Amino acid sequence: MFQVHVRTRINGDDTEFSCEADETLLDALRDRLGLTGAKEGCGTGDCGACSVLVDGRLVCACLMLGAEAEGCDIETVEGMADGSKLHPLQQKFLDHAALQCGVCTPGFLVAAKSLLERNDNPTEEEVRYWLAGNLCRCTGYDKIVRAVLDTAADMRKASKPKPAKAKKASAKGRVSA
Ligand code: FES
Ligand code: FES
Repeated sequence: MFQVHVRTRINGDDTEFSCEADETLLDALRDRLGLTGAKEGCGTGDCGACSVLVDGRLVCACLMLGAEAEGCDIETVEGMADGSKLHPLQQKFLDHAALQCGVCTPGFLVAAKSLLERNDNPTEEEVRYWLAGNLCRCTGYDKIVRAVLDTAADMRKASKPKPAKAKKASAKGRVSA
């Protein structure tokens, strides 16, 4: 079948691949580029397991053609960790045991990351609403929501400017550091 050559950027790297004209972005990522983090749960846009960011927008990779990725900036779950250092969300998912079989997990992580990039102080309701497009058959969702809220709290704490050092008054009434 007719092949399309696609130039794109994935997780910060310029990337080129060829795919069938009717091939989904999910299949291109998994089968041509070896990026198997995004999962195929349904293939119909219902489960969110294939979530990726395309030009900053949360997208179901099973609903987008690989050819449509031409010129796009794509982020997948593989781009979240910094070398061997997990992204805070990944660490919190482990800490809260927010995964069991793990099929849904990459999608939840990518979706949660995109939420926290827009809103660093979401309410529980906002987290649940944002993640409503991601289905999990194992965890019952509560641990996932806790993990996201806990990550947000830690990230806010980490980004708060540190209070300036208290100045000590010297004997002559001057202040010194
Ligand atoms: S595999 Fe894409 S939404 Fe389920
Ligand atoms: S951990 Fe199994 S589907 Fe979510």
